[in-house]
Amino acid sequence: LGNVGRAFVRLLLAKRDQLRAQYGIEWRLTGVASRRMGWLANPEGLSPESLLRGEIPNEAQRCPDLKHWLSVAQPTALFEASSLARTSGEPAISHLRAALQHGAHAITANKGPVLYAYDDLQKLAEHAGRRFLFESTVMDGAPVFNLFRETLPLSSVRGFRGVLNSTTNIVLEEIERGADLRAAVEKAQALGIAETDPSDDLEGFDAAIKVAILVRVLMGCPLRLEEVEREGILGLEEEEIRRARAGGAPYKLVAEAHRVSEWVKASVRPCRVSESSPLAQARGTSSVVHFELEEFFGLTLVETNPGPEATAYGMLVDFIRAVSAC
Ligand SMILES: NC(=O)c1ccc[n+]([C@@H]2O[C@H](COP(=O)([O-])OP(=O)(O)OC[C@H]3O[C@@H](n4cnc5c(N)ncnc54)[C@H](OP(=O)(O)O)[C@@H]3O)[C@@H](O)[C@H]2O)c1
Repeated sequence: LGNVGRAFVRLLLAKRDQLRAQYGIEWRLTGVASRRMGWLANPEGLSPESLLRGEIPNEAQRCPDLKHWLSVAQPTALFEASSLARTSGEPAISHLRAALQHGAHAITANKGPVLYAYDDLQKLAEHAGRRFLFESTVMDGAPVFNLFRETLPLSSVRGFRGVLNSTTNIVLEEIERGADLRAAVEKAQALGIAETDPSDDLEGFDAAIKVAILVRVLMGCPLRLEEVEREGILGLEEEEIRRARAGGAPYKLVAEAHRVSEWVKASVRPCRVSESSPLAQARGTSSVVHFELEEFFGLTLVETNPGPEATAYGMLVDFIRAVSAC
């Protein structure tokens, strides 16, 4: 129940009537967890309004651990939105695995489980007759995975090129306007985009993880994070960044992948992009990705200034998809 979890609960409340009327979906929140709050559950439901006010609902039962929590909450679907653990994907993988073993759909906004346990979780979900879905992990609520799964069946992705990290985008723009690196990072932190420790973004890890996920899911190639060539933006001189913008070809942290015979070559690095390129449309927290397919040459998806609400929307889409298919 962090930023994304709270945005998701607000969205469930806002869409309650439409979920019932259009999809016949009724829901109640039977469990909630965070590091500080611990594991809270009640099979009859917990008050979402109290939780959003930061209160522990009176009806909440405290559970000692995940296993006990699942057995009390009896969820149909579990939503995983804990912090990313870049080197292991844990404990999110264990949360999702336990949910599937319990017979619940497993939905996540956390990239770690897709990076480190995509095959396992997918197999477990198939075996359990449940869904493992993760639309929000790349480009928040924009339909990247659903686009291919739902509307482009049997298409083959040859490659893609995009701007997938908001922090570096904002930092580069702030430097273009005259700020130094430190002030630019502080601006991204004040906007709630950058972490207290922004190094994962600035060194290109966040974008590289997204590349590895896209390559695994959309191109069927089990690329490891270490196999994505990675260069962040810290090696760029501030003056060089300003000159590039003035020259009409600004720097962006470009994430790309292309099929090379049986394998995929992937990288994240700062590149100059022309003002007329689709990649230059990524301003502020926006993201953009341009796909090349066997079937047609180019398809570009641009997501303008998303926040946690867009991420929550991706989880709602996964929820509808999972429970409607039951
Ligand atoms: N923010 C976005 O728009 C966005 C977009 C796409 C994907 N995501 C992904 O969504 C996830 C959540 O992001 P956020 O912005 O909501 O982060 P956040 O506000 O920091 O929330 C993370 C939540 O996870 C909890 N948590 C962390 N480690 C835990 C553990 N070991 N056991 C149980 N709970 C744990 C935290 O509990 P405490 O509060 O008690 O520490 C907190 O409630 C991340 O994986 C992020 O990469 C976010």
